[in-house]
Amino acid sequence: MMVRPALLKHYPIFSLLNAKQLKTLSKVAKEETYGAGEIIFKEGQPAEALSILLKGAIDLFFTVEVEYHPELTKELHFGTIIPGEVFGVSALIEPYILTSSGRTTRACQVIHVDALKLHEILLEDQDLAYGVIQEIAKIALERLNRTRVQLAAANLPTLVS
Ligand code: SIN
Repeated sequence: MMVRPALLKHYPIFSLLNAKQLKTLSKVAKEETYGAGEIIFKEGQPAEALSILLKGAIDLFFTVEVEYHPELTKELHFGTIIPGEVFGVSALIEPYILTSSGRTTRACQVIHVDALKLHEILLEDQDLAYGVIQEIAKIALERLNRTRVQLAAANLPTLVS
């Protein structure tokens, strides 16, 4: 389903785009729905879209080999994407490869914005590129901080008096 420019403008990451840029981007943006339990992006794959979750929830995880059993893998979960959040930030960060996987935990509605078109627009507008990259940095840092909090909670230090 096509995405209205006004809907994109609503999100901080796209709020700096002018009307023409929004129109260009909205033409290559797609709204998709997913059922519960679907993997919608996979670690190690090219990051081809910057996405926004409209409805639902997405569980973030890495897949690692089980020690001494390289034929087995396990999933390490480290966070959840909630409505209004941007994901696929690697679409704007070199080497443009997804750093984790995401699985829907319930029915989801998502906007995918084509990364190539977004790059084209940013290359032509340095001020816009600076603003968008600032937003990406904010999102990535916020996600890192959330993971840190989880990690700290899982490794509570022994209290010393
Ligand atoms: C990625 O873009 O590398 C994974 C998903 C995200 O953190 O936004």
